[in-house]
Amino acid sequence: MTELMLALDVLTRAEAMDIAEKTHPYIDAIKIGYPLVLGSGLSVARDLSEFDLPLIADFKVADIPNTNRLIAEHVFEAGFSGIITQGFTGRDSVSACVDVAHSAGGKCYVVTEMSHPGALDFMGEGIAERLAALAVECNADGIIAPATRPERVKALREIIGKKKILSPGVGAQGGSAEEIAPLIDSMIVGRSIYNSEDPAKAAQSYSFIRN
Ligand code: C5P
Repeated sequence: MTELMLALDVLTRAEAMDIAEKTHPYIDAIKIGYPLVLGSGLSVARDLSEFDLPLIADFKVADIPNTNRLIAEHVFEAGFSGIITQGFTGRDSVSACVDVAHSAGGKCYVVTEMSHPGALDFMGEGIAERLAALAVECNADGIIAPATRPERVKALREIIGKKKILSPGVGAQGGSAEEIAPLIDSMIVGRSIYNSEDPAKAAQSYSFIRN
């Protein structure tokens, strides 16, 4: 079974609550990041907790260990259950996020390779493998890897074993749900659900991955 994680990149609390209300029976987790939090404040996390789903903070944290720790503490105090951090900042910065997450009973995921074309300018093959190894070394709970490049996901799976792979890129970015779902633990989908005329139906259309 592969989980479906909704990337809720809408800009207002009202839109977020509306889409979550419509889709929550068909999803396994919600991911929010700068678009929604800058538009509505961090307190939107408490509002979304009413749906009783894991809530992941996608801030792609990328700072020195002390600043990462301060950011992560805010995230878990706000009611999130997981955080996404960059890995290129190195083991001490990643460990700061992992430590705060685990102390709060939460999860920490490390970006290895992004899903858009420009991701390959600096962080493709070779670098992504090193980032995945770092995620293992730092005891992170999993990695973010691109649904737009299933062959890369397979290569990264070799490195991380049973740790989780969360994978964005299906739908708007062109990735295939059928192809990627068997390779990953959680499929992250945003625009093709929240921009749909019928978000519930759009979310439901991915239910085959959850069986
Ligand atoms: O709208 P769409 O389905 O393309 O949304 C993908 C989500 O995953 C967005 O929130 C984006 O920021 C995020 N993401 C990504 N690639 C990564 C990490 C996160 O597309 N490597």
